[in-house]
Amino acid sequence: MPNNLIINGCQSFDFDISIPGDKSITHRAIILASMCKKSIQIVNPLLSDDCVRTIEIMQSLGSRITEDSGCLSVTGNGYENFTKPKKQLYAGNSGTLIRLISGILSMQNFESEITGDSSLNERPMMRICDPLYELGCKIQSTDGKPPLHFIPSNPKPEINFINKIASAQVKSCMLLASIFLKGDSKITEVIRTRDHTERLLEYLGYPISINENEILIKGSKNFEAKDISIPGDFSSAAFFIVATLLNKESKLILRDINVNKYRIGLLDTLISMGAKITLDNLNEKCNEDVADIIVSSSNLKPLNISGEVVSTMIDELPILFIACATCDGVSEINDIDELVHKETNRIKTMVRGLNEIGIRTESSDSHIKIYGGEISGGIVDSFGDHRVAMSFAIAAFISKKPITILNTNNIRTSFPDFVDKLIMIGAEVYES
Ligand code: S3P
Repeated sequence: MPNNLIINGCQSFDFDISIPGDKSITHRAIILASMCKKSIQIVNPLLSDDCVRTIEIMQSLGSRITEDSGCLSVTGNGYENFTKPKKQLYAGNSGTLIRLISGILSMQNFESEITGDSSLNERPMMRICDPLYELGCKIQSTDGKPPLHFIPSNPKPEINFINKIASAQVKSCMLLASIFLKGDSKITEVIRTRDHTERLLEYLGYPISINENEILIKGSKNFEAKDISIPGDFSSAAFFIVATLLNKESKLILRDINVNKYRIGLLDTLISMGAKITLDNLNEKCNEDVADIIVSSSNLKPLNISGEVVSTMIDELPILFIACATCDGVSEINDIDELVHKETNRIKTMVRGLNEIGIRTESSDSHIKIYGGEISGGIVDSFGDHRVAMSFAIAAFISKKPITILNTNNIRTSFPDFVDKLIMIGAEVYES
């Protein structure tokens, strides 16, 4: 199977495209639908490798899930009736899956174990284990990393947790755990993060209320089974947004994209850099904000950012770095320490790749300075990180010579038809 991409620019384009379903919402839809007692249809789920791992794990825990023409039908047994898996659970490359599902596995009266691929097994799990230990859960980790082994315990009747890390995965792990408790729980966020779990719980009629940074959630209540429709993934759309900005005389309309306010920091940032981007047809779908995004070629100025805005574009930082690399001037992005804990250390992998294609950088574990200039082309290793691979594919749109990207198979963890879409808009792509 080809594991490398060579990209040699792109023609001008003017298209109206759709983007696959949102990954964060798909994970949550499969998990929460499995906690209901009646069948739920999930329309437009993302069927990428990461989400298929979620389907497999929920099936191992007793949920019946089938796929027909791209839709999922999920029939759970209620949150109190999960069954002991027959073998070790496998989360593949997905940090979201392992961290969310840990909130459920730590509440069961059976033992279980979960592991991941070589990248996931290097990622930090103490951020979820610590609050779960505080609750009284018994989990064995491997030096704070997966595999994680869950042992039945007698947790406290409610959670009172302050989430000091800007992580929706940690928050969601604790929200899912709170459903199994008798009492009412309180989860407070120091920095607010994507609220898909809260919105979907609310949509499914689960008693939860949000007051600024504080979430109150009742334990041991029932869900209302309702079908779930998933909007397009903004994080996947981001590659095509930046591609359009950088490519000459091009325009794209991206239909039905989720524009949750904790996800779209990249839009305001790009607009402040001079990007021509507008939103149209703003509406609501299953308690999430959705819109069409209209983008056209633009001349971008360098930027200097720091603080809370960074967490609203955490997955878009690699493609933002590419946009900065094309500006005339120096960009500085601070407070990006969470990037160190992604599928790869994204500060390091992006710096290596940028340097390979002729862009000068300075960086530490929490900031990057990018000296914009001409992208010369070259060979970049993505180290199996899907978002790094897709970012350099877009850099090739304005590179002087082709860019070869190594280890690109993991693109299918989040965006299985990325290459087809690149070709569709007119990019010259070779797979090897
Ligand atoms: C996600 C949260 C983010 C993000 C990840 C998806 C989620 O991770 O990077 O791709 O679905 O909750 P953190 O919560 O660790 O920031």
